[in-house]
Amino acid sequence: MISATRRGLRAIRSLRERRRAETDLLLRSDVARAALAVHGTPLLLLDPERVREQYRRLRTALPFVRFHYAVKALSHDAVISVLADEGSAFDVATGDELALLQRHGVRPDRVIHTHPIKKPAEIADALAAGVTTFVVDNETELEKFRDCADVRLLVRLAYRSPHAKSDLSSKFGVGPFEAARLVALAQDLGIRIAGFSFHTGSQLDDPARVASAITDTLTLMEQLEATLGVRFDTLDIGGGFPVAYDTDVRSIEEFASVIRPVLGPHRHRLDIIAEPGRILVAEAMTLVTSVVGVAERPDGRWYHLDDGVYGAYSNVVAEDVHPFVFATKELGGQEGGATHRWATIAGPTCDSADVVAREVLLPDLRVGDLLASPAMGAYTVVTATRFNGRAVTPVAVLGQAPTTAPVATEQVLAEA
Ligand SMILES: Cc1ncc(COP(=O)(O)O)c(C=O)c1O
Repeated sequence: MISATRRGLRAIRSLRERRRAETDLLLRSDVARAALAVHGTPLLLLDPERVREQYRRLRTALPFVRFHYAVKALSHDAVISVLADEGSAFDVATGDELALLQRHGVRPDRVIHTHPIKKPAEIADALAAGVTTFVVDNETELEKFRDCADVRLLVRLAYRSPHAKSDLSSKFGVGPFEAARLVALAQDLGIRIAGFSFHTGSQLDDPARVASAITDTLTLMEQLEATLGVRFDTLDIGGGFPVAYDTDVRSIEEFASVIRPVLGPHRHRLDIIAEPGRILVAEAMTLVTSVVGVAERPDGRWYHLDDGVYGAYSNVVAEDVHPFVFATKELGGQEGGATHRWATIAGPTCDSADVVAREVLLPDLRVGDLLASPAMGAYTVVTATRFNGRAVTPVAVLGQAPTTAPVATEQVLAEA
């Protein structure tokens, strides 16, 4: 019902208005009201059906690509369930993420381990679980796979994207010459290099950058096949599809239309895979908070909320993304008015860095008033801390009774 009505909302042209209307629709629904009545705030409302919708859009836009959901973006049972149900494959970076998939009965041949640096024990556990595809970007890592039968490695390439919110090639990946050296070394060690992977950067609204990385990788593969006599069968184009937080970005369909013609001719020769994270889960979760304090400071009005950058708004500092913050009492009507003023929104910790947003135009708010931020599904609760002893923000799955924190986070906390 919510998703049917939401399809109508796509016609709203301004992103802010569209997000406001979606948030209003969600918060007026019986399931969201029931969850808030039971749990109070702060609360993350997760709608797994939106994950399903996004997965289906990706599949339709790039039908010959196999999608491995990057579990790190939101390691929640409901997300894994819905994606496993849709037939998605998965991408893990740790043994904890793999254990989560195992609990859901995901077969190991649907899992790739893409962290370029792994503890030896973690490799042993993943191999024992039946995972065979791993990523490497250096000689030391390659050596860890000596004597491992049936392993297929991907060499991670670096393509710098300084405009990405997270330029993942600033930490991982190698250039073409080092890649060639690693492939030759693997040949000497008897280790199979199945192909290459890269990640041109997270939240990068630039499909041409991805297309050029694909072209360069395909060229490298052809050169190495010719010079080293190897045969590759896999191209992994990583993740990175962007999400509209406070500005519009290309849709999945627009983004895919740029890379599809570059990939298409290789679909029968290569196994083409991708590791989307953010695009699948960001819009599926909405954060609801309450005002817990109001203060007049030298720079104006401050509203202190019961969640902040050490909690679910961790994406604001870690990723420099800026989700909208709406006062729920004016969601249904017009925004703006005589009582509106520019305000600073701060988190609950006793720390001056805990500021979620500055210069936000808000109505006059009191303690107890609710605020809501849409598009809070990716890299939020999974990167939250327990600073000041605060609990990690609970996640209420719409349509399900119990509340569950993301499993990986829950485990870490239990061990601490
Ligand atoms: C190896 C790898 N794959 C996939 C992803 C997911 O990227 P995104 O959420 O931008 O789609 C990440 C994100 O950090 C990553 O490091």
